[in-house]
Amino acid sequence: MPNKSRKILVTCALPYANGPIHIGHMLEHIQADIWVRYQRMRNNEVWFISADDAHGTAVMLKSKKLGIKPTKLIKKIKEEHIIDFSNFNISHDHYHTTHCVENLFLLRKIFLSLISQGLINEKEIFQFYDKIKKIFLPDRFIKGTCPFCFSENQSGDNCEICGSIYEPTDLVNPISAISNSVPVLKNTTHLYFNLPVFTNMLNKWIYSGVLEKSVVKKTEEWLKSGLKEWGISRDAPYFGFKIPGFTNKYFYVWLDAPIGYISAFKNLCIKNKKIDFNEFWNKESKCELYHFIGKDIIYFHTLFWPSILEASSFRKPNGIFVHGHLTINGLKLSKSRGFLIKASDWIQCFDSDSLRYYYASKLANNINDIEINLEDFIQKINSDIVNKLVNLASRNTSFIHKYFDGYLSNSLSDVDLYQYFVDISKKIEIFFENRQFSSVIRECIKLLDLANQYISQREPWKIKEDNLDKLHMICTMGINLFRLVMIFLKPIIPDLAKKTEFFLISNLTWESIKTPLLSHKIKKFKKLYNRIHADKILKLSVLCK
Ligand code: MSP
Ligand code: ZN
Repeated sequence: MPNKSRKILVTCALPYANGPIHIGHMLEHIQADIWVRYQRMRNNEVWFISADDAHGTAVMLKSKKLGIKPTKLIKKIKEEHIIDFSNFNISHDHYHTTHCVENLFLLRKIFLSLISQGLINEKEIFQFYDKIKKIFLPDRFIKGTCPFCFSENQSGDNCEICGSIYEPTDLVNPISAISNSVPVLKNTTHLYFNLPVFTNMLNKWIYSGVLEKSVVKKTEEWLKSGLKEWGISRDAPYFGFKIPGFTNKYFYVWLDAPIGYISAFKNLCIKNKKIDFNEFWNKESKCELYHFIGKDIIYFHTLFWPSILEASSFRKPNGIFVHGHLTINGLKLSKSRGFLIKASDWIQCFDSDSLRYYYASKLANNINDIEINLEDFIQKINSDIVNKLVNLASRNTSFIHKYFDGYLSNSLSDVDLYQYFVDISKKIEIFFENRQFSSVIRECIKLLDLANQYISQREPWKIKEDNLDKLHMICTMGINLFRLVMIFLKPIIPDLAKKTEFFLISNLTWESIKTPLLSHKIKKFKKLYNRIHADKILKLSVLCK
């Protein structure tokens, strides 16, 4: 058993605590959750954590708008986020917040260590200031025209259209996104982390197999154009942790956010004394660490984060798993219009398994965008889950109960076909491990087509009552092939898997793939899954208005 002793820590990027979870966030958590559930099925020790990213200007402005304290806002949002994730069966072992004592403690410790190594410099700079709102403007709150491709309405630090990274002062026609006024330049002092010192380390690290090809390419470009010192402080007013030894200076949210990965895990270790914190985070750790993130935050995870970890003698991740963005054509919603479907609206219209299945059918280990089309979604779920998967169980179970009192036969009608399904499990294991979930689904659908064809060709409904043994074996075969496919799909559609376990009176485990269910009583067939009707699209569009 080569994989037996793996110990794995998995994180999802920490959603900002300034708004609801939308189905774009959910893509990431579903992707990670499928992988985590698969690893757990293979008996690996997995800890799956995430947290709210509680600090920063966006949270501060949102709480101001609502007229409540930021701490009250982030508490409420965290509760909502946890409900959203549980509605989609995201099996986090812990969901924390960056606004916590563990994070404050670690942040200070790391900061002091950076200072003692001479890695922090102080510099006076000129920065855009909003005179109306009396606030220095963070990069993302300055809009303007990209200095490279001249696309309009781009944010102060990078262009969504051409991918260039620049300074806010490079923008053509800058505007404050908070007051829509023209900002002025004002001097202030800031702290900088000496990122260029880590260029050599990063140049080696990015080729060590931790990044997928297209992610290496992006990171390579940034490295080639030369790293700059990274500003880690922000002026008041700000919601975050104060920098010790400075007045009115706060740590930039992007410094304490990734440290939140460590502190969320630390908090989990406090709750669960059996987990050894150091075993996972020591520089020499043999445990595996993976971060699931979206392609918009590659920069922070492939440059800053490994450098901060290196500088503070923590281990670095074994993989940064990057996914593309969700695009929704059916309803013409888009991130750039600041409007996406909330997870809480989606779940009022559709069940969790259906979105998980649909995402899985489109996810691979690359950064391609994921296109969601509602008609295609409904068509795929009804065709795959209802017509192919659940139907395979229902069409066979009726005979098992009509003639055999619910008992499966003591042998299969086609041992070779069963073995063929077992052999495919090896392929499926590789697909799961490499996060090629669309390939998992493709294989499962091929198997279901084979299984349904096998049953149809034998026409059990035509078998005469004097040949019941044959009927028994064929239907037992059908149920067993259904069971195997359900084992393969269990990480993807956990609700249906649970119902199947209840119906088969047997757990769907990876170890049991080789052993068919024989001479075993199963329950009467109750509808395992409801067909999705097209009127739900209308319901969703009404909710999203
Ligand atoms: N708070 C930071 C992450 C800090 S991690 C130390 C952040 N938050 S976020 O709420 O904007 O995004 C959280 C994650 O969701 C990111 O990985 C982001 O890429 C992902 N997504 C946000 N919108 C998305 C889509 N429309 N589609 C797919 N993923 C998206 O960034
Ligand atoms: Zn551009």
